[in-house]
Amino acid sequence: MKNRIIDFKKYFMPDLKKARKRIEDAKIIDNSFEIPLNIVNIGNNKKYHIRTYGCQSNLRDTETMKGICEVLGYTWVEDIYQADLVILNTCAVRENAEEKVFGEIGMLKKIKYTNPNFIFGIAGCMAQEEVVVKRILTHHEHIDFILGTHNIFRLPQIIEQAILSKETIVEIWNKEGDVIENLPSIRDSKIKAWVNIMYGCDKFCTYCIVPYTRGKVRSRLQKDIIEEVKELIKLGYKDITLLGQNVNSYGCDFKKQDYKFWDLLEDIAKTGVQRLRFTTSNPFDWDNKIIDVMARNKNIMPFIHLPIQSGDETILLRMNRKMKVQTYLDYIKYIRDNIPQVAISTDLIVGFPNETDEQFENTLKLYEQVQYDNAYTFIYSKRDGTPAVNFEDEISTETKKERLSRLNELVKKYAKLNNEKYVGLELEVLVEGPSKTNEEVLTGYSPQQKVVNFTGTAKPGEIIKVKIESASRFSLNGKQI
Ligand code: SAH
Ligand code: SF4
Ligand code: F3S
Repeated sequence: MKNRIIDFKKYFMPDLKKARKRIEDAKIIDNSFEIPLNIVNIGNNKKYHIRTYGCQSNLRDTETMKGICEVLGYTWVEDIYQADLVILNTCAVRENAEEKVFGEIGMLKKIKYTNPNFIFGIAGCMAQEEVVVKRILTHHEHIDFILGTHNIFRLPQIIEQAILSKETIVEIWNKEGDVIENLPSIRDSKIKAWVNIMYGCDKFCTYCIVPYTRGKVRSRLQKDIIEEVKELIKLGYKDITLLGQNVNSYGCDFKKQDYKFWDLLEDIAKTGVQRLRFTTSNPFDWDNKIIDVMARNKNIMPFIHLPIQSGDETILLRMNRKMKVQTYLDYIKYIRDNIPQVAISTDLIVGFPNETDEQFENTLKLYEQVQYDNAYTFIYSKRDGTPAVNFEDEISTETKKERLSRLNELVKKYAKLNNEKYVGLELEVLVEGPSKTNEEVLTGYSPQQKVVNFTGTAKPGEIIKVKIESASRFSLNGKQI
């Protein structure tokens, strides 16, 4: 085991206060990735596994880390216990997400006993948190490296140091962030792809850790995004999702040009990509121009994720999400009036500090008004370093759980009712392959991002028509026609 005295000052530690700053301009860096000659083949004959937690930004970062590992010679292994290198790409958004990772860190310790050369790394948003890094250094000596979100292009150097050193390597940049282009990547799917259009977030919702772990808003240049999309089309990708913590604020950091999300969306739609999607949209920065672009370009899929978080304006204000409920409802109306068969989903937090019964009821009321296709619902979780940690909170855990289950009843009810509207209709389905639960049935996605299970003969990657015969809360079921 490693022999360390814990003097946190000597580590390249995270600092949430520094991460809050928004002063420097972001740079576009095209040539940051390099592999020192002495480690070109460091992964030859070795296997790696990366486990991903959290949002699509992390899924995309994992694809990049996979690309880097394979350039170094490592090969992927599905069984994590067979790996010589394991990286946990972590999420910090809620406490239970973090506890899951700590559980895993404990479990995977065993590999050290059977494989003395095993390298164990932590990456992702948890790495950007001071409390997490201190806890790892203090209690989990078997972690070989901790790498932050801003410097994943340094993975080769970090792996090299981890192999050579007896100490845990900690490299966290408390930067506002840059845009790093031209990193290698191995995509998870041959049909669907994620494309980052911007990184970071400047919204600072009072409950949220993301602006600290991911840095400031940095938009990629349109030429780089469009080039990536064109390349993906050439490779046969059918469904592209534009990614950002808040895609609606794309371009707000451009000083020399006025080029916004709706401009980008239209330009990408014109590349001819078969299915185009985007996520996520903070409704505060929403603009109905997005809908106008969608209405003009039928290859932008009729699915919108528009997280409101609460149906109560006082709570929204305390969340630093200055949104009028009526304005939000007007957006929903505009969306439904202009995009036929559109599906709408949202995120909701219950039990925000001192949320009253009445304020919670307002969330239920909004839900009844919008009748979402789906919602991701969460109990508020305290995040160190965010303003809401200091808000007084006297609501019991029991009340919070009760609110969550009442809300989830509505989510279930409307998910089913909305899905049932498709029974008897024909939908275009992008085929993924055999269903995981029943080999005889194929599965794919409708334009609305609904799972469609069907009988037929289609091949993965084809877009075919399915007649919907029945619907459950989770999926639509039918026959290929
Ligand atoms: N940028 C996205 C959200 C990213 S985090 C947006 O603004 O829409 C995904 C979701 O996690 C959020 O929408 C919110 O509902 C939830 N979330 C974030 N911080 C949380 C916290 N401290 N406790 C509970 N849920 C949280
Ligand atoms: Fe978090 Fe708010 Fe930014 Fe979304 S918009 S990432 S909830 S701070
Ligand atoms: Fe989690 Fe980081 Fe995404 S905190 S939700 S992985 S940006």
